[in-house]
Amino acid sequence: MDLTGRKVLVTGGAGFIGSALVEFLLSKGCEVTAYDSFDDFYPGKEENLGPYLNDKDFRLVRGNILDFDSLNDAMGGVSVVFHEAAQAGVRYGIDHPRDAHETNVTGTLNVLEAARKNEVEKVVYASSSSVYGNPVSLPMVEDHPPSPTNPYGATKLAAEKYCIAYQRTYGLKTVCLRYFSVYGPRGRPDQVITAFTNIIARGGRPRIFGDGKQSRDFTYISDVVSATYLGAAVDVDGEIINVGYGKDLSIEFVARKVAEGLGKDVQPDFVKGYEGDFPQTLCSNSKALHQLGWRPKVPFEEGLSKYLEWYRAKMVRPLSS
Ligand SMILES: NC(=O)c1ccc[n+]([C@@H]2O[C@H](COP(=O)([O-])OP(=O)(O)OC[C@H]3O[C@@H](n4cnc5c(N)ncnc54)[C@H](O)[C@@H]3O)[C@@H](O)[C@H]2O)c1
Repeated sequence: MDLTGRKVLVTGGAGFIGSALVEFLLSKGCEVTAYDSFDDFYPGKEENLGPYLNDKDFRLVRGNILDFDSLNDAMGGVSVVFHEAAQAGVRYGIDHPRDAHETNVTGTLNVLEAARKNEVEKVVYASSSSVYGNPVSLPMVEDHPPSPTNPYGATKLAAEKYCIAYQRTYGLKTVCLRYFSVYGPRGRPDQVITAFTNIIARGGRPRIFGDGKQSRDFTYISDVVSATYLGAAVDVDGEIINVGYGKDLSIEFVARKVAEGLGKDVQPDFVKGYEGDFPQTLCSNSKALHQLGWRPKVPFEEGLSKYLEWYRAKMVRPLSS
């Protein structure tokens, strides 16, 4: 589907990934609505959309995906919905499983229902590698058994099931993209790279849950955004597709790399691990290559250096600008 000039809606458009996607979609000539409740999970999301507020092709709707009427109104005339809104964060979901369920499962059902009513052509859903849980084989291919180890992963899997069910029952085109540990500018403060950077830059020690040997497949934001765009632009339907770089790095290694990038020599503070954590993610991205024509472009060292450059610029920027 050629998205140029099309009306698209990004739920969670003020968030980390959503706001980067908004920027990319505007650059591709789309008419973009960001639909976001500006939840209180973390502050500062208004800033993420500041640069686009005066763009003639951009519209911001402050709304909650749990408010069906508001969501339904916002979807009028929309061709593609990119569903990024969620209660993200594994540890938050462990402490607030009902909140995670409401937003991630009931909220997704509302998105699909509003999309069906408004004859939206396609919904691209932001799923997560958390649906896999403890790996039984590596790298994780899409038909690896999904077995979430925490409530957040369970909600993301349940929402995927709704996407597939809507495709089969109503013929609503849906694609589920399983993102692997996304990082980059505007990253969420609860995520490891952002959290490590914030603490190390202020002279503190990065806190690591467990022994630091658990590993994640870190994927740079621009790669995730381009895959998400292709999820709509390419003629795929009813598919679940991994979006990850394809290399895993231990959390301890990442803490040391962040410290090195900031020119600091610090020892991590190892604290007790938590139930629901999982030891490893490692993405097989060959389906994304075959079905979307996507391959990641930004290796970790390059992505981290771009992120730290953005972080430094943000820190030195005067408050008035
Ligand atoms: N960041 C990652 O590493 C990662 C990995 C896998 C999957 N994901 C998924 O990608 C999506 C985006 O994640 P993110 O990291 O940008 O998180 P984020 O918290 O920065 O963005 C989520 C956005 O959704 C909004 N939101 C939350 N509840 C809402 C509601 N009820 N109604 C309307 N808006 C609401 C928030 O205000 C926020 O702006 C999520 O679906 C998340 O599960 C993220």
